[in-house]
Amino acid sequence: MDRTFVLEVVRVTEAAAIAAARWMGRGDEKAADQAAVDAMRRVLDTVSFDGTVVIGEGERDEAPMLYIGEKVGLGEGHPRVDIALDPLEGTTITAHGGSNSLAVLAIAEAGKFLHGPDTYMQKIAVGPDAAGVIDLNKSPTENLKAIAKAKGKPVEELTAIILNRPRHSDLIQEVRASGARIRLIQDGDVSAAIATADPRTGIDVLFGIGGAPEGVLAAAALRCVGGEIQGRLKPRNQEEVERAKKMGISNINRVFLTEEMAAGDVVFCATGVTEGEMLRGVHFTADAVETESVVMRSRSQTVRWIKTQHHLDRKPVY
Ligand code: FBP
Repeated sequence: MDRTFVLEVVRVTEAAAIAAARWMGRGDEKAADQAAVDAMRRVLDTVSFDGTVVIGEGERDEAPMLYIGEKVGLGEGHPRVDIALDPLEGTTITAHGGSNSLAVLAIAEAGKFLHGPDTYMQKIAVGPDAAGVIDLNKSPTENLKAIAKAKGKPVEELTAIILNRPRHSDLIQEVRASGARIRLIQDGDVSAAIATADPRTGIDVLFGIGGAPEGVLAAAALRCVGGEIQGRLKPRNQEEVERAKKMGISNINRVFLTEEMAAGDVVFCATGVTEGEMLRGVHFTADAVETESVVMRSRSQTVRWIKTQHHLDRKPVY
């Protein structure tokens, strides 16, 4: 994959983040999401690849733009890539002015992202220092013990991050009983998964069920930093099971490993929308708009932190 994408794609998430940030705290999830989608779409079409959206805003009939199968980029004559995207990861966070919402995009060579239905996924994710010791088929208690051993600290000093949902009540109880601490979050398990690989956050492991597309995006990010995620689809009904089968997933209980969700040479890019631990949110100043992004690549595991000042009067595409 062409290295120059790395800098080109930042413009895509920057545009989505700026557009979404204008809706921060206004209580309108849909408008924030739509603004991010529109902006991401516009800038995607200026990137020199022949891209196909494989993880997007949903199926063609339910998403007018950035739907699965949609072609993006300059098209023929440019490298063929698959795109996984979430123009606004954390729509409710943004609408409420909360923390850690992101505009996210990942790129892989054609055919390298897991193709699955837009359903839920049970996940466990850790950073590089605990990669190789987790197992989704084992209990949270067993995993916490293994992570503690790998990190050389007691389970009591581990922090798990979990989406605060009624479906997680048993999980939360078990993690607390094991002695570990929990950070409960309202939304945003892509940034939560990445947080496990960022020592500044103090997060050691992500547990729980969130979106399957978010699982693939997290896999792309963790591939780039040597972390690990495992995921098992959690379809809501028989129809989703059938759709998974049609997409080639015959064993619905299969545990997908990081490399099975995002294989080959992967580029991951995110820009902060609202304030976060990993990335600052978009700041509007008197004469510029400031963004903070991270771009990383699996092949080299290079991680670039990019702070940008945008002068929008000179850059109409945003
Ligand atoms: P959106 O930005 O699409 O609203 O997703 C937010 C999110 O919290 C994801 O990070 C997470 O994977 C998913 O929703 C969890 O789904 P649910 O809110 O249905 O539990």
